[in-house]
Amino acid sequence: MFITFEGIDGSGKSTQARLLAEALRADGLDVVLTREPGGSPGAEEIRRLVLEGDPDRWSPETEILLFTAARRDHLERTIAPALAAGRIVICDRFADSTRMYQGLSRGDLRGLVDQLHALMIGREPDLTFLVDIDPTVGLARAKGRQGTEERFEDMGLAMQERMRAGFLALAREFATRFRLVNGARPTEDVAAEILSLTRAALA
Ligand code: ADP
Ligand code: TYD
Repeated sequence: MFITFEGIDGSGKSTQARLLAEALRADGLDVVLTREPGGSPGAEEIRRLVLEGDPDRWSPETEILLFTAARRDHLERTIAPALAAGRIVICDRFADSTRMYQGLSRGDLRGLVDQLHALMIGREPDLTFLVDIDPTVGLARAKGRQGTEERFEDMGLAMQERMRAGFLALAREFATRFRLVNGARPTEDVAAEILSLTRAALA
């Protein structure tokens, strides 16, 4: 089972991905917790290229190539071997993030994202949690974190609103694998709902 978490910055994806991994491990399951961009040594190197430095360093098209290159390496080295060994893979962001961030934020490049995905990745998750949150709340949470990886958080409120709407539309487009979860609740409540939805999907 390949499970992904999606949503705007600060929605609580990383927190929920970690809690789900811990809960499933407590059930005795073998879980790999990973993230994008990154999740393999090569992809973590690409992460630094895309998330640090001048925001205009890459054209939108080059950015799609870099995120897809990172994903391909992550898939080859981490995700596919784990799934083949019967392990559960939980990933913080995956191709849906490229569909939204690279597909929507600087012109309409969704078609290009999908073409490259079909050519180079060709795999969707079995289950995707969309952690939905008001961007004002998400941004406030995200700003509380320290670090040098700021560029997509710096997009501002209007763009985050578009991303939120885009993710909700994506959840309707891929209705079979998406589960919409309200992230504006206490962490434990969100985690309990996600765990029960995962157990139902595993059963
Ligand atoms: P994301 O990975 O979606 O950007 P994180 O899981 O890193 O989000 O959470 C962003 C910040 O908000 C963190 O400081 C985290 O501790 C906090 N946080 C996460 N979930 C909740 C929640 N349900 N309520 C309040 N704060 C939260
Ligand atoms: P992440 O570390 O998940 O950030 P956050 O915890 O703030 O949500 O992801 C880093 C940034 O990378 C995030 O702003 C979204 C962006 N991103 C893309 O633009 N395209 C992609 O394909 C992926 C996976 C992430």
